[in-house]
Amino acid sequence: MTAGQRLQVSVFQDMEELSRGAADIFVTLSKTNITSRGRFVVALSGGSTPRRLYSLLGSPWYRNEIDWSRVHVFWADERCVPKDHPESNYRFAHDALLSRVFLPAQNVHRIRGEDGPRKAAGEYEDDLRIFFSGPGTIVFDLIILGVGEDGHTASLFPGSPALDESTRPAVSVCLKEPEISRVTLTLPVLNHAAEVLFLASGRAKAEIIKDILEGSSKQCYPAGQVRPSNGMLTWLIDKQAAEKMRGHSST
Ligand code: 6PG
Repeated sequence: MTAGQRLQVSVFQDMEELSRGAADIFVTLSKTNITSRGRFVVALSGGSTPRRLYSLLGSPWYRNEIDWSRVHVFWADERCVPKDHPESNYRFAHDALLSRVFLPAQNVHRIRGEDGPRKAAGEYEDDLRIFFSGPGTIVFDLIILGVGEDGHTASLFPGSPALDESTRPAVSVCLKEPEISRVTLTLPVLNHAAEVLFLASGRAKAEIIKDILEGSSKQCYPAGQVRPSNGMLTWLIDKQAAEKMRGHSST
């Protein structure tokens, strides 16, 4: 870790507590960012883990705590499918959250997966550069990420050339298995975020969580390469995902 980097790992009893912890962080960050800069810019992920978080944020208990008119939503990655496809990360977030809050349409910056990987990546890059006004200035207030059992995060998979991208904010990724191309934010963007929140739940994640958080080979994994240079890195994990870690204290 360098001087500007901060890391926190919190272990929760179960997915419900973890999701509430994440929702509390989302609300707090929305308030501080909207108060200080008039907007809150977040990138969401797909996968199953954030489902409860999104539905909590869309529930009456949380949604009225957030000034959605000042929230801008981007995605960490997307599959190249139409926006109403069951595999669409946009659809996932729309159904659980975006359809339940008063978020202006112009604040939703989805990746147009239906346009195909190269075009969708190019369009997303343009959207990012225009929104953040120019090259080199893409700083998300919050990026929510998950981790796969192989250590992937967003659509950055082990061994992928996308991991070496140093200038483009978003690139296309071609996968053989399953054969759906994707578009993903790149490491330079993830590592310039003010806050990165990883969510991981379940025993199947225990090995990779131990390797990433305690192992000496963490840099082998894409998720282990996410270390915001001047921001906060927070891992919210449940007891099952933490069970292989040496010493953890429950929150
Ligand atoms: C996606 C992702 C991906 C996900 C991990 C973890 O769209 O699938 O962005 O990186 O976060 O695969 O997925 P789970 O939450 O389902 O374990």
